[in-house]
Amino acid sequence: MKFFIDTANLDQIREANDLGVLDGVTTNPSLMAKEGIKGDENCRKHYVEICNIVDGDVSAEVIATDYEGMIKEGEELAALHPNIVVKVPCIADGIKAIKYFTNKGIRTNCTLVFSPGQALLAAKAGATYVSPFVGRLDDISSDGIELVEKIVDMYAYYGFNTQVLAASIRHTQHIIQCIEAGADVATCPLSAIKGLLKHPLTDSGLATFLADHKKVNS
Ligand code: E4P
Repeated sequence: MKFFIDTANLDQIREANDLGVLDGVTTNPSLMAKEGIKGDENCRKHYVEICNIVDGDVSAEVIATDYEGMIKEGEELAALHPNIVVKVPCIADGIKAIKYFTNKGIRTNCTLVFSPGQALLAAKAGATYVSPFVGRLDDISSDGIELVEKIVDMYAYYGFNTQVLAASIRHTQHIIQCIEAGADVATCPLSAIKGLLKHPLTDSGLATFLADHKKVNS
């Protein structure tokens, strides 16, 4: 499974990238706003900065919600850097735009996906990635991981090439569940990625190894 980091924060992107296991980055308008990045020009500069840090796919989301607007914005975003993936919401004009981008060889991430039916339309339009939002479904007492499993099974059954990018990951256990569900990618906060490393037996085992080494070497 590939790991993307779900942030527009450059320090966190650098820290995750330095681990050597990062495959890409996802952003969204809320994450960009959280970093105080405003205006088209600044947003574009920021996407290029991210692309210069990480050697992997970087999702940049369109703001337009109409077909023509999405096409214009998506083409401009895709032209910024070869690693840009145009992120498009799962609405009717979005599906049409994804189909257009697919025909033009522009890669896409269909976002805000909450049902297998939406994921089917995204795949039929040729989306590179589909983003089921795990945490937001869990937030409303639904089952986000179950949606990931259903999409993985459906894509395997019909032979779609669209990759399942589990999004809205809130904690480390979500990542483990995404692995078990067969997601192609999980996009995660840095804290959830670092949480994978935590184990008390690793810490106590390392402390014992170092203490035993010191006993005979001091
Ligand atoms: C990433 O592609 C999504 O926009 C993001 O994971 C949403 O996460 P949230 O539900 O925590 O805002």
